[in-house]
Amino acid sequence: MPDGQDKLRRSTTEDDITAAVLQRFAATPDPRLRQIMLGLIKHLHEFVKEVELTEAEWFQAIEILTEAGKMCSDKRQEFILFSDTLGVSMVVDLIGHRKPEGATESTVFGPFHRLGAPEMPPGGNIAHRDTVGIPALVSGRVLDLDGKLIANAELDVWQTQSNGLYDAQDDNPNELHMRGKFRTDGEGRYLVRSVVPVNYPIPSDGPVGAMLKATGRHPWRPAHIHFVVTANGYDGVTTHIFDRTDPYLESDAVFAVKDSLICDFVRHDQPTAQAAKLGIKGPMATAHFDFVLKSAGANAQLDVHDAQRRLAALGAR
Ligand code: BEZ
Ligand code: FE
Repeated sequence: MPDGQDKLRRSTTEDDITAAVLQRFAATPDPRLRQIMLGLIKHLHEFVKEVELTEAEWFQAIEILTEAGKMCSDKRQEFILFSDTLGVSMVVDLIGHRKPEGATESTVFGPFHRLGAPEMPPGGNIAHRDTVGIPALVSGRVLDLDGKLIANAELDVWQTQSNGLYDAQDDNPNELHMRGKFRTDGEGRYLVRSVVPVNYPIPSDGPVGAMLKATGRHPWRPAHIHFVVTANGYDGVTTHIFDRTDPYLESDAVFAVKDSLICDFVRHDQPTAQAAKLGIKGPMATAHFDFVLKSAGANAQLDVHDAQRRLAALGAR
């Protein structure tokens, strides 16, 4: 062997390659980035070896990711849909929001939040352009873990229209609809006027839809209303309330249902006294849900608004 030839030896086995790649990342200065990169390489290589990924399949993955990138726009976030439908968003949610017993559980943020929802008074109607849905009054309180009522908490609320579409997916995508920001009164109470939520399919005309179809899965989400509840001195919560009667509770396309978030939308043939005062006529529904927040600990870093800002920065309006 000529001089120095041994130094030129290159990795040749599958495991040599993994070791070489891990070694190349081992000097990453930021310890957290180092941990993430080493973990990613280890699991990614293990995955490829376990399923013995073929070149054609590798190329298909590249095509899918390319297609996902092309689908992304100011109204569409295909990568979040991948994360949601693969259950990754919920694993991240469960790790990041471990809460004491009794605190309202969080669930996926989803890709349809928009900044700039209008401030509304108690009983304000977020569904003012929705003429087909069953009117609904959603009420409750915001409390802490000791049962103390929290005044002036903010509830950022959003929901699909009765046609199953979010405003950004419909005819006038630039106009906000089915969104509002509410505040609790001096007794911690809130009141939102809307329509009974409907179940709806997540966007399935792109690579996520193709993946769901190819794997025998459906794209439906059970009927729900989104809430982000925040108050000074407390950890905010990003969550939904779900309609107990929905047939998709057991098979939510994004795995986001938690039992504690299921709620009764009680039907009334005639408006309740409170609904009549707000001008609601005919059959309607009421739902009651209390949100319980945990006090922000000394080292609390949780900022539920961070996800909102970052989604908006990706182009969501
Ligand atoms: C939503 O509820 O808005 C949603 C969540 C995850 C994926 C798609 C939609
Ligand atoms: Fe939703």
